[in-house]
Amino acid sequence: MKARTTFCATDSGNATTSSDAVAQVSPIVTFTRMDQGTAEDYALLDELAKPYIAKTGERALAYLENLSEGFPGYPVDRLQHSLQTATRALRAGECEEIVVAALLHDIGDDLAPENHSELGASVLRPYVANHTYWMVLQHGLFQGYYYFDKIGLDPDARLRYRDHPAFDMTVHFCDAYDQNSFDPGYDTLAIDHFVPMVERIFARKPWGDHTTCDWPVQD
Ligand SMILES: [Fe+2]
Ligand SMILES: [Fe+2]
Repeated sequence: MKARTTFCATDSGNATTSSDAVAQVSPIVTFTRMDQGTAEDYALLDELAKPYIAKTGERALAYLENLSEGFPGYPVDRLQHSLQTATRALRAGECEEIVVAALLHDIGDDLAPENHSELGASVLRPYVANHTYWMVLQHGLFQGYYYFDKIGLDPDARLRYRDHPAFDMTVHFCDAYDQNSFDPGYDTLAIDHFVPMVERIFARKPWGDHTTCDWPVQD
């Protein structure tokens, strides 16, 4: 995408103890200190991690549901806000990566309410382009344009990044999708609509070619 117009049994033959059975189902490494692990240990861990890593998108979606209980006082909860932000991005014709970024941009609100942008950006980073990561990382500061003057802060604080290539992209994200997505009357799509998109983005090889690009590309 360019700078933007619009813009994842046990062995039945022998009696076994319960600990034997567990060992057969889930092998474990030989060490209790990492500095004593063998190459075979680390190869085993790498193999066992693959199906776990493959479910990262699934866990992100489950975690997103926590946002329905956070930050009181807004007309919509953070889950609805996230869905609305993603819906607006989708309807504007943004690519799937931006839509997923929109869906997950506030996922850090639950566990890191004081620096939520960093957490959301870090979750996305191995699966998206550099500027998509940067957009999510900086969106909290850029959102300040709309309200920092009401709380004694500088609404133009984002201008420190005016020369960054993703500056306009991030301005647009906040203006068109994020700052305006607190509307209970908006026709927001349900989370089910976004599940396949999240699965496709998180099915990418972590730190694959997509992360060597500045801008999002269509798979
Ligand atoms: Fe945010
Ligand atoms: Fe937001």
